[in-house]
Amino acid sequence: MPLKRKNYSGKNFNNAHSIEELHKIACRRIPNFALEYVVGGAEDEATLAWNREALKAIRFIPNTLVDTSSRHQRIKLFEQDSRSPLIIAPTGLNGMLHHNADVALAKAAAKNGIPFCLSMVSNSSLEGVAEDAGGRLWMQLYVMINRDITRNILARAEEAGYEALVFTSDANVFGNREWDQRNYRAPAKLTIRNLIDVALHPRWAFDVLVPHGVPRFENIVKFMPSEAQSASGGVAIFPKLFAPNISWQDVEWLREKWPRKLVIKGILSVVDAMRATELGCDGIIVSNHGGRQLDGCVSPIEVLPEIADAVGKQTAIIVDSGFRRGTEVLKAMALGAHAVMIGRATLFGLAAGGEAGANHALSILTTEIDRSLGQLGCNSVAELGPHLLAKN
Ligand SMILES: Cc1cc2nc3c(=O)[nH]c(=O)nc-3n(C[C@H](O)[C@H](O)[C@H](O)COP(=O)(O)O)c2cc1C
Repeated sequence: MPLKRKNYSGKNFNNAHSIEELHKIACRRIPNFALEYVVGGAEDEATLAWNREALKAIRFIPNTLVDTSSRHQRIKLFEQDSRSPLIIAPTGLNGMLHHNADVALAKAAAKNGIPFCLSMVSNSSLEGVAEDAGGRLWMQLYVMINRDITRNILARAEEAGYEALVFTSDANVFGNREWDQRNYRAPAKLTIRNLIDVALHPRWAFDVLVPHGVPRFENIVKFMPSEAQSASGGVAIFPKLFAPNISWQDVEWLREKWPRKLVIKGILSVVDAMRATELGCDGIIVSNHGGRQLDGCVSPIEVLPEIADAVGKQTAIIVDSGFRRGTEVLKAMALGAHAVMIGRATLFGLAAGGEAGANHALSILTTEIDRSLGQLGCNSVAELGPHLLAKN
């Protein structure tokens, strides 16, 4: 009788075969409240679930009997070589998953020859990441009510040599992540169950909390009220800091002030993609914030083809939200994306094994991309196109 498949129970991140296996290891390594923060989506999590479904629903029609022995996955992005069509997405509060997490992710990106985008609400300062990790660095920006924060980040990111500024446009109002909120009995106070769960993760606590204290929002600490400077306090106050009045005027202003590459993250319509292009943005990120903002939203992969048709020749098209497999990266590229941003995939690696874990996540994805390119009968991602996809 054949052995039955069991749930994955591996503990060593190096043995994980897939991003999903890294996710399972991360589930065991970090306490529930930190895990919820990473995996959760807004409200009923319909957007979150649909991001995965929409990617899975696309099917390939491969070419066969093609010599693919010279295949590679290099791309050119903003006139520079990337070893693979991936970018690590900006994610705030990484320090709750691992000590010095932003530097760990940036080092993993540099090692794999791809850009790393630092969140404005990171736990390492943008200068610290540039100094300790190097590599191709992009800086993400939330325009908050206090526009002094924006001016400060812009000046510092330019001084520190960041290649691109990524303005996140889909967080004018903070997402309603209910599972995240349920973990707190009062602002910054975990429920008793969650406190017990923290106590059951001593290895995590000694890495993240004990020697250095609760991670702080190092980029913007001087702008935060004292009770909101640490990750636990900041989370409660955050939603009030986001500016509901951000508009295209901010994009015009940023274009004037920021001399390097400007990218708008959170575009989902052709009209907005065209507007960003007309205002001189160098790239757009077709994204629904990984299902963490508007629930009941289209998945970026659904709207990608028409956006790529409209502006793909004038501007760099990056897509994110839900990518967990190399095949899914190739589907997006076949539909017109120039590169794919990954959020949770590398966070699972980070939570499972720090920098080496994040590196393992990237190695899983790049190996999958390489293998699938070959199976599709392609020698480079430039050969991908809609002709390799089934029409539904
Ligand atoms: C834990 C977490 C924190 C995030 N923080 C930010 C952030 O600070 N700024 C931002 O623009 N996007 C943020 N995002 C969204 C990501 O940049 C990206 O759009 C999303 O993770 C892509 O979906 P994926 O996680 O399914 O790959 C965050 C996402 C996650 C999962």
